[in-house]
Amino acid sequence: ERESGRRKRRKILTLRLKREVGLISAVSLIAGTMIGSGIFMSPEWVLYYMGSPAGSLIIWAACGLLVMFAALSYAELGTIIKESGGEYIYLLRNFGSFPAFLCAYTSVIMVRPASVAGVSLSFAEYAVAPFYPGCSPPQVLVKCTAATCILLLTIINCLNVKLATSVMNVFTAAKLLVLLVIATGGIVLLINGQTQSFQNAFQNTTAGIGPVGVAFYQGLWSYDGWNNLNYVTEELKKPEVTLPRAVMIAIPLVTSLYLLVNVSYFAAMTPAELLSSGAVAVSWGNKVLGSWAWLISLAVAISTFGSANGTFFSGGRMCYIAAREGHMPDILSMAHVQCFTPSPALIFTSAMSLLMIIPGNFSSIVNFFRYVPIFMPIIMLIASVYLVLAPIIDQPQIEFFYVILFILSGVIVYFPLVHFKCYPRFLPWVTLHLQLLLEVAPAAKNVN
Ligand code: ARG
Repeated sequence: ERESGRRKRRKILTLRLKREVGLISAVSLIAGTMIGSGIFMSPEWVLYYMGSPAGSLIIWAACGLLVMFAALSYAELGTIIKESGGEYIYLLRNFGSFPAFLCAYTSVIMVRPASVAGVSLSFAEYAVAPFYPGCSPPQVLVKCTAATCILLLTIINCLNVKLATSVMNVFTAAKLLVLLVIATGGIVLLINGQTQSFQNAFQNTTAGIGPVGVAFYQGLWSYDGWNNLNYVTEELKKPEVTLPRAVMIAIPLVTSLYLLVNVSYFAAMTPAELLSSGAVAVSWGNKVLGSWAWLISLAVAISTFGSANGTFFSGGRMCYIAAREGHMPDILSMAHVQCFTPSPALIFTSAMSLLMIIPGNFSSIVNFFRYVPIFMPIIMLIASVYLVLAPIIDQPQIEFFYVILFILSGVIVYFPLVHFKCYPRFLPWVTLHLQLLLEVAPAAKNVN
């Protein structure tokens, strides 16, 4: 009896993140992160690199297919390896500590915060745009708005997981509606005979391997976020069912909407108009919605806010899991004792994202994503090798070298701090005091 009492007490004392993400939240965590700024801006660039409407549509469809392959592979990985953490945990369990560390190091310090910062900056651009008709808003204002967005996301995500997923659901519903409106607009235009863009649809298509690769990047940015659910496997209700099901609903849904929206852009504008538009969705709004065109800026702001929320939610998890495995300072592996959220990891991600906002602008941030370390089955692997090499061979840029240098700098951090564990003596003291300040404690793994 005493033994069972002790066991019970231990059970009460173990702190865990709860399993709070059901199918609907899972679908919106994927779709709601994927649909961000991309579909409202990148079609112009895909067209620019592909040269023709048909070429563009093929790229958008191919991106969807590629992402579907990748996501199904991930769904399978997620049902075998039941821990949260996405590619980090898969690398760790399959290839060991060092490659996993490099993945966590680059993701936690650079890739995830850059992604949060990039999406928040595009949120800010569109949120302030209606107040500056006909001119571009001051950069300071844009950056302050982006910072406010990040702080707001931090508060929401630290307070309570349910709150964060509810925000996710509402915003995803809103943006699905927006894409549907644009798609329907397109169908109406086509029925009314606006089919000029589709006559000679293949004319001027690019055949170069380099440009096609770059077009893929532009398209893939809009699909980025497809792997989000694998970061939170331990928080899913019935993960072995929810994970594959959510993937099979979300990705075809997003792909078909993206294709319809692209068709709608081409129905409203000629390729030449599209190429000179600056922000495709806004030009579409001006042509089709007339005096209601401001709705589009609002829609993009809603869409990007939701996407930033999903990115932040999952980005915080990667940091939390890496810390739990000893690859980041202990404090980041702790959870708030009442809110059951990984608040230190979230606050850290938020701080890094805020730092990224200071020098960053949206397009330079998107270009970082040419180097995400990724593990995937054959097709995805071949595609990835091609996608990494094509831009380097086509247009070598000094930034690529910096990125490699940054990944390699992980070696210098890994051996002393992680492998030999020689960190400064005061670190445990700092951890303890941070624990008291943030009311957090070590949290246990949640696998059954
Ligand atoms: N696909 C989103 C967009 O079009 C970007 C998502 C970035 N977040 C992420 N978790 N990868 O804006």
